[in-house]
Amino acid sequence: MNTTVVILAAGLGTRMRSKRAKVLHCAGGLTMIEHVVTAARVVAPADRIVAVTGHQASEVEATLAPRGIQFARQSQQKGTGNAVACAREVCAGPDGDTNLPATNVMVLYGDTPLLSGATLLRLRDAQADSDAAATLITTTLADPTGYGRVLLDETGNVRAIVEEKSCTAEQRSLKLINSGIYCFRADLLWKHIGEIAPANPAGEYYLTDMAEILTRNGYRVQPLYIEDARELLGINTRVELADADRLLRERKAHELMVEGVTIERPETVSIDTQVRIGPDTIIEPFTRLLGNTEIGEECRICAGSIIESSVLADRVLIKPYSLIADSRVEAGAQVGPFARLRMSAQIGPFARVGNFVEVKNSRLGTGVKSQHLAYLGDAEIGDRVNIGAGTITCNFDGEKKHETKIGAGAFIGSNATLVAPIEIGEESYVGAGSVITDPVPVQSLALGRGRQVVKTDWVEKRKKKPEAKTQAPE
Ligand code: UD1
Ligand code: CA
Repeated sequence: MNTTVVILAAGLGTRMRSKRAKVLHCAGGLTMIEHVVTAARVVAPADRIVAVTGHQASEVEATLAPRGIQFARQSQQKGTGNAVACAREVCAGPDGDTNLPATNVMVLYGDTPLLSGATLLRLRDAQADSDAAATLITTTLADPTGYGRVLLDETGNVRAIVEEKSCTAEQRSLKLINSGIYCFRADLLWKHIGEIAPANPAGEYYLTDMAEILTRNGYRVQPLYIEDARELLGINTRVELADADRLLRERKAHELMVEGVTIERPETVSIDTQVRIGPDTIIEPFTRLLGNTEIGEECRICAGSIIESSVLADRVLIKPYSLIADSRVEAGAQVGPFARLRMSAQIGPFARVGNFVEVKNSRLGTGVKSQHLAYLGDAEIGDRVNIGAGTITCNFDGEKKHETKIGAGAFIGSNATLVAPIEIGEESYVGAGSVITDPVPVQSLALGRGRQVVKTDWVEKRKKKPEAKTQAPE
């Protein structure tokens, strides 16, 4: 049986009070709509998934473009029923095959980021194994406020869905809710969708009316009851968004722990959905691991560190309060505390980057040491180079960025100022406090500083002079 998935993502989401389309708000490090597409991919190939866009359509489509799905536009947000109707043409495809009884149309809403692919498989199978015109996922909520209520007939089939705004007082007290996740027989959906009328207080075309419409036409609509209501959470407000974010991160931390990652005080860490971590790595409290970050085995990420879209090989130690973005750290290297790596910094195996060291767009070879207070920007630093405390690459001349090259085994004394473009040869020494403006050949010593002057007995002489208080002795 073929399944086409239609995901509704055209609404603004007024209750978010945002300029941004609701489905573009993030939970667990991904937009809500991306989570829904990930779940949908479990039941359908990308070219059988259609997202209906409207508010900020181009932004929503750009976010989903890498996933290769289809799009249909809803020009005016006239309700969920109208949104599905807008997807009809794209669903049918060139050969119209999705209108056959052997095809299902699953409808999902773009604001349910906790939905799992496993639940969609259950929905697909429940529909495939039945003679029903549609199956819809229900659950019971202690507080069903805002959800459509599901009315069952005496045989346990769905008779109708009543939106909260249309509920009688008695209906409002019902706890069985519509999750907004449905699987329709394609031919019946398309045949009857035109019967939805905007006869409700909101004047919208409600997809939920399909339950009553199909029943009225003599078909059966069956409920599929799901125990874990959290998975069905529909996000309408920022308070609910925070709930979803927390649940996704709890789920992620739980998965990682099951796979062999130690997480201390997991309730304090934020790990994005896409992050990957190898076994026996230890994640300390109050860390944030974001984006497409990948961390190897037996690493330790110490408290307060933030790692975004970066790759850490095995046995890397990130000491407390370090910031790492878009960078790469090789096996056995140590970074921090209070270090910053950014813009394609590459830290070689067993290198040490210590406190208050910033590395930007630079490559540090094997065993390089830069332990304290340095700025290394646009630099290529060979194996075993030692960078003294306070060393700065002057990579910017006010207009352009320039490169610094330091050959393997060189020793850069403390507080060196390396004015780029500059090249320092292998195994050379740069004296402490030097300003280096000319190239340094291999195995040389470069000094670029004023000579020290010592005036002996200066203090004694100063005391003897009558004007001593205002003028120093010569
Ligand atoms: C909807 C259901 C309700 C269900 C709840 C579950 C309807 C009428 N009501 O209510 O029964 O309990 O979800 O979470 O379906 N959208 C469009 N175009 C539109 C309107 C909405 O694409 O014209 C999209 C929105 O972007 C959103 C989704 O449809 O992703 C659901 O819309 P929303 O306004 O959140 O519906 P609810 O009021 O939550
Ligand atoms: Ca909703």
